[in-house]
Amino acid sequence: MSRPDSFAANLRETFRRDQVFGPLRPGTRPVSPGHLDTGGKHILYMEDVTVSFDGFKALNDLTLYIEPGELRCIIGPNGAGKSTMMDVITGKTRPDTGVCYFGQTLDLTAMSETDIATAGIGRKFQKPTVFPEHTALENLELATAGPKGTWHALLKPVTGEQRDWMASTLDTVGLLGERDRLAGALSHGQKQWLEIAMVLMQKPELLLVDEPIAGMTRQEVERTAELLQGLAGEHSVMVVEHDMEFIRSIANTVTVLHQGSVLAESSMQQVQNDPRVIEVYLGESV
Ligand SMILES: Nc1ncnc2c1ncn2[C@@H]1O[C@H](COP(=O)(O)OP(=O)(O)OP(=O)(O)O)[C@@H](O)[C@H]1O
Ligand SMILES: [Mg+2]
Repeated sequence: MSRPDSFAANLRETFRRDQVFGPLRPGTRPVSPGHLDTGGKHILYMEDVTVSFDGFKALNDLTLYIEPGELRCIIGPNGAGKSTMMDVITGKTRPDTGVCYFGQTLDLTAMSETDIATAGIGRKFQKPTVFPEHTALENLELATAGPKGTWHALLKPVTGEQRDWMASTLDTVGLLGERDRLAGALSHGQKQWLEIAMVLMQKPELLLVDEPIAGMTRQEVERTAELLQGLAGEHSVMVVEHDMEFIRSIANTVTVLHQGSVLAESSMQQVQNDPRVIEVYLGESV
């Protein structure tokens, strides 16, 4: 008699998700930032994740782990599934099959986008979405706006502790001197950094950054490289980017996606000499 599929799936999960034979209690409750259970080895677990759009597999049995504090670079040709992977992690897209856990107990496939953000996963989209009519500092206040909305956030008195936190975050992204400038008057690169600062307001343990340097000057690119490297350690950072020079300048571990699966995962040097990777880039210099 063959075993039911669910039995096989459960068995596989028990053996793979954290490779610890303890009671694993999936949970879907939001947790406050800083209270994530990372008792295991990884902060993010994606196993055998498949996402289909009308039968086309944008993700195909994708398995990937992220360590606490690491800076992980994700590369891959157009359509490889990079943004879809971030959509799954942030709850925007639900996988057809597979496992996606944040820490030991948070099943991301069963959580709302808001709860995932509250639990400590922040995402910086490619296009900056700052509030141009407000100052850099006010943008950070707005980023802390809860369900009561933006006016409430601006009218609410800011405590000394919050003010210090906002100032130190602006300092981290190199914008302390611009705190009172309108966001609309900032350069493209500065707007991108301001948006990173806004995401940092939610104190994410895992920061997802999709194509951060598009349209930046070379100087801004260098500053962004330093910024992301500085954020790693305190945060886990996942960066998707096409610019190989940039990736080379920041990469520790590089994951190459191709047709929705991991094609290779190692140091940048190993990846760029991997014949399979060279083949999918069709001779582009990796
Ligand atoms: N909502 C959707 N409906 C249908 N197909 C989709 C949808 N979202 C993504 N796809 C398809 O899934 C595949 C993976 O797309 P995805 O955006 O994840 O790739 P990517 O690696 O981020 O590419 P790029 O480097 O161009 O940003 C593509 O073929 C894309 O057309
Ligand atoms: Mg994309």
